[in-house]
Amino acid sequence: MHKNTACHLALAAATLFSVPALAADPAQGDLQAGKSLVYTCHGCHGVTGYKNAYPNYHVPRIAGQNYDYLVAALSEYKKGERAHPTMRAQGESLSDADIRNIAAYLSSLSPSQ
Ligand code: HEC
Repeated sequence: MHKNTACHLALAAATLFSVPALAADPAQGDLQAGKSLVYTCHGCHGVTGYKNAYPNYHVPRIAGQNYDYLVAALSEYKKGERAHPTMRAQGESLSDADIRNIAAYLSSLSPSQ
């Protein structure tokens, strides 16, 4: 949780000086903001452990995944580069900042949670 202050500053700086040419923005998302966003994910990815409770099909573990991997996966759903219909709907409802915030939160979790 102590990482958070730095994240806030980095995000604020990124917003102030955001230039399209700097698309590879190294600023990571806001962990606390991400935490409030993942409640909608719990239904499928599970509450503790992000294992699927219902519906009863395979849902990948997302807690403790690598930050860059999560940003890439969610961006791919958002852009339609990954075809899964339910996750695509999730991705489309998220802004790029939401995706970074969610990735910051999920990557901060222990994979065994
Ligand atoms: C309606 C059920 C459902 C909801 C709600 C849902 N997911 Fe998913 N999610 C899935 C399924 C099923 C997959 C596997 C899709 C596939 O095979 O491409 C998946 C895949 C993913 C992946 C890719 C994991 C990997 O290893 O490739 C990520 C990241 C992810 N979800 C994050 C989220 C986040 C963040 C939210 C909330 C904003 C969310 N999901 C909400 C069902 C859901």
